[in-house]
Amino acid sequence: MPTIFDELLDRFHGYLGSVDSKLVSDAVARVDWDMHARALEPRLLGCLRHLDRIAEAAPPEIKPLVGFVAEHRNDLHWGQTYTAADFGQAFIDNYGWLEVFGTRGHFVNGEVAAGLLILGPDIVYPDHHHIAEEIYIPLTGGTEWRMGEGGFHVREAGKVIHHASNVNHAMRTGNEPLMALYIWRGGPLAQKSTIAKDSA
Ligand SMILES: [Fe+2]
Repeated sequence: MPTIFDELLDRFHGYLGSVDSKLVSDAVARVDWDMHARALEPRLLGCLRHLDRIAEAAPPEIKPLVGFVAEHRNDLHWGQTYTAADFGQAFIDNYGWLEVFGTRGHFVNGEVAAGLLILGPDIVYPDHHHIAEEIYIPLTGGTEWRMGEGGFHVREAGKVIHHASNVNHAMRTGNEPLMALYIWRGGPLAQKSTIAKDSA
């Protein structure tokens, strides 16, 4: 019997396979999808209250993944890397991630980490960087993203965003919450991001 975790991985893989991007298809092809499950207790966070709206707002091609996550939220192990000391309590109450696979997620992978990030409405995730290269795909629309010295730009659901190693990036939400799919590779997979000096 497949577990809900197997189905989560299948839906995650299935959505990634539908994304029309060479960057993403190359990343997907390099993952060994025959991963071992890691036994993790459920861990719940305040940001999960945004999941109903996220599932409602996701476009049709993304709903099978996001709707499944919303439905099974209470069985999943949600995480946070930051504390209130980093960006304040409002951020912590509106932020969390689910590592589908990697060094600490539901499936074991020492080469690539991937999962889903949640940010509530009206949240700024300030400039930060990390060694790993990162691919993001927002699964809901209307959030603003910036990288390097550039300004903020609205990125719609399904748009592929690439952050090279050690380049500062930031995002901010408006009146809707965000769910974004992330893939990390080429660096320490559980590293806490370094916060840019003038944004902490
Ligand atoms: Fe990042």
